[in-house]
Amino acid sequence: MLNQIKLISAALLSIAILTSCAAQQVKSDQPSLKDAYAGKFLVGATVNGDMVAHPSSKKMRIVKQHFSAATMDNAMKWGPFNPQPGEYNFEAPDKFASYTQQQGIAAVGHVLFWHSQTPDWVFKDDNGNLLSRDALLKRMRERAKLMANRYGDKIKIWDVVNEAIEDDGSLRQSLYNKIIGDDFIEQAFRIANDELPADAVKLYNDYGMTRSGRVNTVIKMVNDFKARGVPIDGLGIQGHWSMDSPTLDEIDTSLTKLAATGLPLHITELDIDYLGRSQFFGANGANVDLQKRIATPENNPYPNGNFPASADAALGDRYAAIFKLFLKHHKDIDRVTFWGVTDGDSWLNGWPVAGRTNYPLLFNRDGSAKQALQKVIEVGLAAQ
Ligand code: XIL
Repeated sequence: MLNQIKLISAALLSIAILTSCAAQQVKSDQPSLKDAYAGKFLVGATVNGDMVAHPSSKKMRIVKQHFSAATMDNAMKWGPFNPQPGEYNFEAPDKFASYTQQQGIAAVGHVLFWHSQTPDWVFKDDNGNLLSRDALLKRMRERAKLMANRYGDKIKIWDVVNEAIEDDGSLRQSLYNKIIGDDFIEQAFRIANDELPADAVKLYNDYGMTRSGRVNTVIKMVNDFKARGVPIDGLGIQGHWSMDSPTLDEIDTSLTKLAATGLPLHITELDIDYLGRSQFFGANGANVDLQKRIATPENNPYPNGNFPASADAALGDRYAAIFKLFLKHHKDIDRVTFWGVTDGDSWLNGWPVAGRTNYPLLFNRDGSAKQALQKVIEVGLAAQ
């Protein structure tokens, strides 16, 4: 399906180039991100409930203009979607599914099964005791079935399991793992495959996908799944990166290794944390379980939008270099999604330092373009 999308986007791009040549005499409209990468991979962004409730807002105009894929940042996670047994918040996901369908934007379901933002009740019976393996598998199946019934015709890419492998390659000891056992990921994919439509692309998604421990386990898992006929369609590389980590070489190497599994790669949650986080944890990554810090003048140096122009340029250069690498691997990459639209939407204003002002994306808080947008578009256009 994604290959078809690529062909269609390539055809649309040729039309866009032809018409924009004519239009350029009138006004020099900037080509969009999605056009710059048409025929290579989809370019996406996350949207939130407020955005899908206001489809004509400035942010949604940016989404429509620049992005060919979209993911909900929180509203489809188990907790926000289904906070109590039998209680469902359908409004935002419903709007998301119909908006993306109307606009021809590829919708991504994030996320069926994740240890975080999942309420306690999911794992417990009425007496507060942990469920049996079978009872939890049944609940997981009910969730997948509901998603399939309600969104199956509109959402064709799913993050099935998120962050189930640790940096060192061991399996994360979450309640899923504790109750179901080490075959939790396998069972999740079997359920997703049974319940979601056959043409849905089902992904394993994780951060730190340049760390050899995790990468090796992921590769082993995919090979094992293939050998035993466990269905999996692609790998999600979150891409919560910073200015110096991972290095371009590390990204290059891990893309090569992961693509060698034969599965298409999706960069699912790209952002560049200019302010960095290794100073707190001694490592990068995006483990939401790590304890947050409080903003101080030292760790929050640009609280009032006073981000220096030189920093803006450096961020743009880092993005440009990373997109050059994505282009090098474009045959293996189906999608690159940013985790947010504007800097104001980013989760990096709240993690790992609560209340700091971060600048990780391609659009300023007021929706204006950053240098990074221009630079990333130029990289794409140069390869067209
Ligand atoms: C983040 C959301 O953007 C925040 O609003 C929320 O408070 C925490 O989760 N990896 C993931 C995403 O897979 O779901 C996370 O999203 C960011 C890290």
